[in-house]
Amino acid sequence: MSIPLPDELLKLPHTRDIPFERLTTLGIGGICRWLFEPSTEEEARLFVGACVRRDQPYRVLGVGSNLLVLGDVAEPVLRLRLGGKAARSGLEFTAPASHGHVALAEAAAAAGLSGLEWAGGIPGSLGGAVRMNAGAHGGEWGQVLARYRFLTPAGELVEKAPGPGEFGYRRSGFPPGAVVLSATARLAEGDPARIHALMAEYRAKRAAGQPRGVRSAGCIFRNPPGGSAGRLIDAAGLKGRRVGDAEVSLVHANFLVNRGHATPSQFLELMELVRAGVKEAHGVDLEPEVEIWR
Ligand code: FAD
Ligand code: EPU
Repeated sequence: MSIPLPDELLKLPHTRDIPFERLTTLGIGGICRWLFEPSTEEEARLFVGACVRRDQPYRVLGVGSNLLVLGDVAEPVLRLRLGGKAARSGLEFTAPASHGHVALAEAAAAAGLSGLEWAGGIPGSLGGAVRMNAGAHGGEWGQVLARYRFLTPAGELVEKAPGPGEFGYRRSGFPPGAVVLSATARLAEGDPARIHALMAEYRAKRAAGQPRGVRSAGCIFRNPPGGSAGRLIDAAGLKGRRVGDAEVSLVHANFLVNRGHATPSQFLELMELVRAGVKEAHGVDLEPEVEIWR
């Protein structure tokens, strides 16, 4: 189903009826009825302003690498396509939110800046990474983020440093509807050879321990305090379990992958099966880490 949008919004460039198969790495979901892709911050501000004035709910999409979409989305979806490169100023490194995350880590390394080595294997956009407080190998955005520019859900442009406790494990304090426009990392001078060696080491670990070349949204469940969801799922004997084309990866049990044409209901059924199996085997309740759009 599609909903009519106010003229004020329709004046902004948009496309219609794009399958989420093309907008997410997992490749699951229905149709994105309205996709707005501003190429300037001003266009993004006009989009949020028009939605606010008309009480029109909207959603924010990055690269869709942490997203499970369960059906059609009738609300307008904002996906930033801002131009501009990452720029160094002293020890700070700033990039637009739509900058590729892996490319950002590589650009920091090329500039001889240390502090984002852990980010080199995490797909998605900078905006999605800040919003999710993405992390790996002991690093995460909350540790390096100096400040970020964003649109509040009321459409105001704000630039600020993160407040105390604003970022936690795969968690940030952004309210729904806030749009990250750019972010600045505070890094350290480093030896390029050592930076590249550490990134290569992390890449090799990932290649050995996580599935590649298959559609996924990364880890599906959050790690329980002090534990590993992957280890618990594995120990419950669930690797390789399938519901249709949705499968618990044989490589890493916390990656639930789409082997081809998994449907939203098959994927959800597999998630439930895994949760129930881990609860029965270990008495632990797993919480989803993936964002779910209903
Ligand atoms: P999306 O999936 O598009 O969106 C995620 C959330 O961010 C949504 O709530 C969305 O509304 C919001 N969002 C996106 N852009 C913005 C913006 N500009 N402003 C405000 N909100 C926004 N994650 C890790 O943390 N560590 C890992 O090691 C890791 N490994 C992965 C490996 C693979 C193979 C895959 C497929 C995923 C992995 N992930 C990992 C998950 C994912 O890559 C990260 O969560 C990533 O940061 C999501 O970015 P995105 O642009 O794809 O966001
Ligand atoms: N393990 C198993 N079986 C498995 C998978 C893992 O026994 O199938 C064991 C491993 O042998 C290891 C332990 O579980 O002893 C932890 O595994 P791993 O090192 O792979 O780390 P993880 O806790 O499963 C976390 C993040 C990943 C991130 C890696 C590397 C979460 C939910 N996952 O995985 O992030 O890449 O550490 O730092 O926090 C993501 O968020 O999407 C993601 C992939």
